[in-house]
Amino acid sequence: MARSAPVFTCAECGATHAKWAGRCDACGAWNSLVEETGPTTPASLGPGRRLPLSDLEGEEPAPPRLPSGVGELDRVMGGGLVPASALLVGGDPGIGKSTLLLQAAAAFGRAGASALYVSGEEAASQIRMRASRLGLAKAPVKLAAATDLRDILATLEAERPDLAILDSIQTLWLSSVGSAPGSVAQVRAAAHELVSFAKRRGTSVVLVGHVTKEGQIAGPRVVEHMVDTVLYFEGERGHPFRILRAVKNRFGPADEIGVFEMTGRGLAQVENPSALFLSERGRETPGAAVFAGIEGTRPVLVEIQALVAPSPMSTPRRAVVGWDSGRLAMILAVLEARAGVSLAGREVYLNVAGGLRVAEPAADLAVAAALLSALAETPLPAETVVFGEISLSGAVRPAPQADARLREAERLGFTGALAPPPASSAARRRASTPEEKPGIKATRIEDVAALAARLLGEGGAPAPRTD
Ligand code: TYD
Ligand code: MG
Repeated sequence: MARSAPVFTCAECGATHAKWAGRCDACGAWNSLVEETGPTTPASLGPGRRLPLSDLEGEEPAPPRLPSGVGELDRVMGGGLVPASALLVGGDPGIGKSTLLLQAAAAFGRAGASALYVSGEEAASQIRMRASRLGLAKAPVKLAAATDLRDILATLEAERPDLAILDSIQTLWLSSVGSAPGSVAQVRAAAHELVSFAKRRGTSVVLVGHVTKEGQIAGPRVVEHMVDTVLYFEGERGHPFRILRAVKNRFGPADEIGVFEMTGRGLAQVENPSALFLSERGRETPGAAVFAGIEGTRPVLVEIQALVAPSPMSTPRRAVVGWDSGRLAMILAVLEARAGVSLAGREVYLNVAGGLRVAEPAADLAVAAALLSALAETPLPAETVVFGEISLSGAVRPAPQADARLREAERLGFTGALAPPPASSAARRRASTPEEKPGIKATRIEDVAALAARLLGEGGAPAPRTD
């Protein structure tokens, strides 16, 4: 017989440990292990049945999709909601998840789906107040405030809606699981029940999850591998922009983003994010570079701002918002080693405007340009975008979808670009002079030394490469 032995599960990453420890070996989180009891060895399995095997070849129709009609939402889901799928929408408390999902429920309801919204956090009256503030009071959405999963499942079983939203997974509670709501065991059991319901009955289930660093409340991380699609709702407090980002999608491309703006009447879609992210841009200032990025399938222009200041401290501060601080350290090291530009002894601040988080390596050259421009106290050439990945050798590597980046820049009135050399060496030789495109002049930057020479003015224009 299987014996019950204590198991300690990390609330951050879901790893299990035989013994309690202050720190999770798997993810390094502190104070995140919580005890769970349950059988650790499965009972005797009994004889299995031989599975029918098939070939890889076969015509599979694309999954049917139900669009909400909200373009930014449908884009992130890969074209609309897939029936019988399970989604997790994660995000910091207060970022706007409940607002987004109430609007989504209303949009799907109006698009003809039967939608059910279950809140475990707020009373029905609060949600009705929100609906009326958002102008959604008449939308065909059914509402319940509940936390007992048995009641919720019984309701879902009776209603069989096309879409069920559970806000939030941390509040749901199954009496057969002996731990408190929000514990890893409860979150996992609730997610398991709801995902199986989705598969069994064809309802699309959306689970809302708070991302928190505290060990007490299970992060939705344990749920991520149980669902088909994981979306994160992100943004900087104090900024009105919110990004819905697909980080996993079994039915569509990951890395797709939807851009929204917070208003007094809820979230408004932003169909032209570049214009929005650049709208706060003033006149050309030193330390500002416009990065021509790609988010998912579309180009997005965003300003990268750098500030470089002398520091009285032996270890000067480096602070980054919206980009990876390790990547900044690498760019600083490459600038020093390959271009002889040292920022040691100076504080460096880097900020991606508008609250966007940039993860693309192609932002390297824009970051380097912003840093050099800040150091030189000279603005970059007017109306110029920058993109390109920087390798440890200092060489600038080609970035994917260069044409799409240039086209977006041109569309928004930019006239120049600092861009990587073309991929093939034959093409590189041909393009040793700035390339002329209608409306936009792309200047090919071979390496960080060439960029530094161009922006710092030392030695004037870079010597053409002869290789
Ligand atoms: P809420 O949706 O409750 O966030 P979450 O569910 O992630 O905790 O939103 C937080 C607050 O922000 C709430 O008081 C409503 C307000 N808000 C707006 O006023 N306009 C908006 O567009 C959004 C998204 C939120
Ligand atoms: Mg909420």
